[in-house]
Amino acid sequence: MRTMHKTLLCLMGLWLAWVSVLPPGGLAQPVADPREAAFVDSVLSLMTLEEKLGQLAQYRGRWSDTGPKVPEGGEAEIRAGRVGSFLGVYGAAYTREMQRLAVEESRLGIPLLFAHDVIHGFRTIFPVPLAEAATWDVTAVEEAARIAAVEATAHGLHWTFAPMVDVARDPRWGRIVEGSGEDPYLGAQMAAARVRGFQGADLRDPATMLACAKHFAAYGAAEGGRDYNIADLSERTLREIYLPPFQAAVEAGVETIMAAFNEVNGVPAHASTFLLDDVLRREWGFGGLVVSDYTGVLELIPHGVAADRAEAGRLALTAGVDVDMVSGIYVDDLPAEVRAGRLDEAVVDEAVRRVLRAKYRLGLFEDPYRYSDPAREQALTLTPAHRQAARAMAQKSLVLLKNEGGVLPLDRTVGTLAVIGPLADAPREMLGGWAAAGRAEDAVTILQGIREAVAPGTRILYAKGATIEGDDRSGFDEAVRVAREADAVVLVLGEHHDMSAEAHNRTSLDLPGVQRELAQAVHATGKPVVAVLIGGRPLSVTWLDAHVPAILMAWFPGVEAGHAVADVLFGDVSPSGKLPVTFPRTVGQVPIYYNHKNTGRPPDPNNKYTSKYIDVPWTPLYPFGHGLSYTTFAYANVRVDRPVIRAGETVTVSVDVTNTGDRTGDEVVQLYLRDEVASVTRPVKQLRGFERITLAPGQTKTVTFTLGPQDMTFYDQAMQPVIEPGFFTVYAGGSSENVIQTRFEVQ
Ligand code: GLC
Repeated sequence: MRTMHKTLLCLMGLWLAWVSVLPPGGLAQPVADPREAAFVDSVLSLMTLEEKLGQLAQYRGRWSDTGPKVPEGGEAEIRAGRVGSFLGVYGAAYTREMQRLAVEESRLGIPLLFAHDVIHGFRTIFPVPLAEAATWDVTAVEEAARIAAVEATAHGLHWTFAPMVDVARDPRWGRIVEGSGEDPYLGAQMAAARVRGFQGADLRDPATMLACAKHFAAYGAAEGGRDYNIADLSERTLREIYLPPFQAAVEAGVETIMAAFNEVNGVPAHASTFLLDDVLRREWGFGGLVVSDYTGVLELIPHGVAADRAEAGRLALTAGVDVDMVSGIYVDDLPAEVRAGRLDEAVVDEAVRRVLRAKYRLGLFEDPYRYSDPAREQALTLTPAHRQAARAMAQKSLVLLKNEGGVLPLDRTVGTLAVIGPLADAPREMLGGWAAAGRAEDAVTILQGIREAVAPGTRILYAKGATIEGDDRSGFDEAVRVAREADAVVLVLGEHHDMSAEAHNRTSLDLPGVQRELAQAVHATGKPVVAVLIGGRPLSVTWLDAHVPAILMAWFPGVEAGHAVADVLFGDVSPSGKLPVTFPRTVGQVPIYYNHKNTGRPPDPNNKYTSKYIDVPWTPLYPFGHGLSYTTFAYANVRVDRPVIRAGETVTVSVDVTNTGDRTGDEVVQLYLRDEVASVTRPVKQLRGFERITLAPGQTKTVTFTLGPQDMTFYDQAMQPVIEPGFFTVYAGGSSENVIQTRFEVQ
């Protein structure tokens, strides 16, 4: 044991000596770091088959009273070289000890990777990803991921299973909260920003970590919005809607990809050579590592494509799943498969190279303990600067859905303000799902934020009114009583954090429980009411929309929830969020999304025989891209630099935006494109650009976008990417519906 470990150290010494004499440019090899391949192959050459398959094994940690620990027996597995990484194990001191076991007490001393779901913050919990997308602020989203990486790496983590980049058109699906909504273009921008944020400029920097684009692919197309269900869709929809954010992540340099639980058109993603090899590696040139989802390899058996563990393992590894999360099949069942000649060891070797490369790129072979620094952990967690960034993100994520009569912003000197609802004083709910190491006690509730924001003389009354779920109306009287005593009411309604994210799908988009009845009871008092919605998906708040003058969608706003909501409610900040997902009037409209096809009979209220419903308007409650401000903006003079271009050329679009209100505000200027006539039907609109701008009252800015070939390309009937001649309509505006237009021609 000690001798072999010394071999690796000796190898390291030789390698480091060799490195030092290499010319700066290194050898002429097609890899970013020419020494990497040589080093990785030299380590591989020392490994037994069991050690190789051990590197492909990932186990889940267990929670103990002193924090996350490796599972029972985990230390023995580390010493035996039968584990390459852990999920859910972190802590600077503890990971240092586990790393020491690997480096000093296993035969080859190969360092471990520690991974975790750091989705929207580690300890400083930011707004949920869908809320971050509602900011349409790519820079802020990258910065949020950067802060998450700083905190997570300070706790010994090397790898996050984020960004989740699944496009979601079905809000029944709970995991819509984890992504960037319904649009592939917005989703691609956010995916790339989060990869840059997590991985930084240099993975050897101990404040950077491996990112993981997930879940590859089309998990958001799960039938019925039901997690783990099948995705059955055309290759055209797959390529034009669900794949672009993954490709953007790969182009941004994402080091890892996670396979999806679902099948795609009959083939489970974990066994799909089309997805994992043809598309990911051959078409996109992805050179990183693919990790299974949790027991995803084992699930090939219930999927019905593998008869037993061994077959499941062979299928997944051969298809391109390099690391087996939790099922233990690779390390337990595949040695015999290789020895029986049913699995080529070269396939194992390639997966092991990818794991060793990841460890090499993080600098773990040079210094396995570089991420396990208690001083960093202490200094960099939940800092005031991190909280301030979370507050700024939350402010920008709030979407003002309605503001009739300028009810908002509220006057902070109001005499008595009633704060009512089950989400008003609910700290844990503010964090949303996938809250990593976040703690309820860190969160500022809406009630607390309002208390801190009002003038000293203002009286705050509070009543919960109802629970989030259930039909208990016993709290209504108290709620009505405090409403009657108040000059105005803030209703805080919505979903529990466990009503979205994984395995939390809903058949309804309504406010849960009796919350709508609570709103009706409070509204009946005749007091001015504004509603703040907390939740992880679009909510079909048609009654609120019809009766309550102001509605603010706050999603799950994170640790600074109360401060950010109060900043907007009292006008310190003008709301600027825009919906990254359509709000249906009712779940019966699902799927409903902005980039839909026109059909041969587009909806026409004056023609019965057109595509619509008899019981509900076909239009959404609130459209994609919608969001109001405390000021108003006017769009004018949208124009192109050239009315005619040749295929492959670019066209520049400009539009003048004016702040026509009386206070400064941010606006997200959106650009959409429509290919009017083509050899296959094209969406009525496709987002092709956006820019956040700040305008003072009366100020006008000209915003310019460049449209290139990639914006006009689509897959023709033969599934070949083409740009066809013809007219394109260009739309510019403050939402997907509130637009002005012009057109240009491709010859
Ligand atoms: C879960 C999720 C995935 C997560 C993984 C590890 O089942 O599908 O998003 O990263 O397991 O927790």
